[in-house]
Amino acid sequence: MFLGIDVSTTATKAVLVDGNGSVVAAESEAYDYQTPQPQWAEQHPEVWWQATRSVLRGLDLRGVEAVGLTGQMHGLVLLGADDAPLRPAILWNDQRTAAECDEMRAALGLERLVAITGNDALPGFTAPKLLWVRNHEPDVYAAARRMLLPKDYLRLRLTGVHATDRAGGSGTQLFDLARRDWSAELLDQLGIDPGLLPPTFEGPEVTGTVSREAAESTGLAVGTPVVAGGGDQAATAVGTGVVDPGAVMLSLGTSGVVFAATDAPVRDPQGRVHAFCHALPERWHLMGVMLSAAGSLRWLRDTVAPGEDFAALAASAGDVPAGADGLLFLPYLTGERTPHADPLARGAFVGLTVRHGRAHLVRAVMEGVAFGLRDGLELMQAAGVGAVDEIRASGGGTRSAVWRQVLADVLGASLVTPAASEGAAYGAALLAAGRIPTFTASTQTDPSGTDYGTAYARYRDLYPALRSTFR
Ligand code: XUL
Repeated sequence: MFLGIDVSTTATKAVLVDGNGSVVAAESEAYDYQTPQPQWAEQHPEVWWQATRSVLRGLDLRGVEAVGLTGQMHGLVLLGADDAPLRPAILWNDQRTAAECDEMRAALGLERLVAITGNDALPGFTAPKLLWVRNHEPDVYAAARRMLLPKDYLRLRLTGVHATDRAGGSGTQLFDLARRDWSAELLDQLGIDPGLLPPTFEGPEVTGTVSREAAESTGLAVGTPVVAGGGDQAATAVGTGVVDPGAVMLSLGTSGVVFAATDAPVRDPQGRVHAFCHALPERWHLMGVMLSAAGSLRWLRDTVAPGEDFAALAASAGDVPAGADGLLFLPYLTGERTPHADPLARGAFVGLTVRHGRAHLVRAVMEGVAFGLRDGLELMQAAGVGAVDEIRASGGGTRSAVWRQVLADVLGASLVTPAASEGAAYGAALLAAGRIPTFTASTQTDPSGTDYGTAYARYRDLYPALRSTFR
């Protein structure tokens, strides 16, 4: 038996998987995050530990041979000399660090920054958060002895060890992407003490074992190995078998992700798609992240159809022709990352007429999100991913057959959904097991021949045309 634990933004989830990769049991406990100021998103690390303890108490942990960890990426956890958190963690969706991103570009130049890390500086990443603490909370920065990612705080509580995985490490933007470890040049240019950073490991490597104290509070056996695991996107990719070049994954949750596995550290020269290490050795990946994907449909439901069943609302879009009778939706409700790294980007419905009804709004949202994902996919293809015939898709939005068809048509690829997926926690358990089962599809949606070329071209014109109105 192998255990995967996912410290997500809204819940901690644990999945027990047997030696064949079949899910035996799963538990989760929800929690909130705080937004003490506009653009801020924080969570106290103790919340993750307490949720983990309570989730593990709900599972029969006898026979667990190894534990794999995953979680929300990019979060900054700062520990003092006694290993206690010095402040709440600053999360991946926090947008306060625009000035620190400029500081990073000024220190290295965009070209060098992308050459080393694979990425442009984005407020979501960890490095600018660390600089923000140095600029705004110098006492906290001076007291800091270690920086960890959220899942690594759980590792510390389970094993007493400071360590991180290389997929998550590269998401800090302090990594040398090609060397798969902290970049001495970057740390030197930014004036960051390398001693703050934990040792790094490949996803399946053992980082430590469950301590006596942790065993008493979780029910895991003393000495159970804990492997490095990976950031939630890389772990989800492991869970859907997206590990070899050519394999592409799409996730349609609150945020939307297109993810392509590579066997070399490829990047977009302008850093418009993320380039990170994968959770397996000698594998990397490119990734486009939209901040409001299925989140856009949830917003629409809550705003114009409160209480309406999602499945019924989504199905209503099937009664509207492709192209939503000329209605376009720009899905930047919470700013954007890919392809426009712009926290101030905003959403829009464009082309409304009196002939448009609620179902048109739904269809336009689905199409706008699909166009945003196509933007990311096209950047990844230009960076070297090449032709894509099949995409493994998961997340709440893929439960809608209409949306799956829109995605297959807009992306020009067959969309297959996995038969068994418990998301990132499942992938973390597989990393602990050291094996990736063969992918089994539950649905397959092929492109129907519907041509979205004109609508996509009109969509592409919207952001540059509207950009000045967002400021
Ligand atoms: C990935 C990212 C999100 C978080 C969500 O770059 O920021 O997927 O990891 O948990």
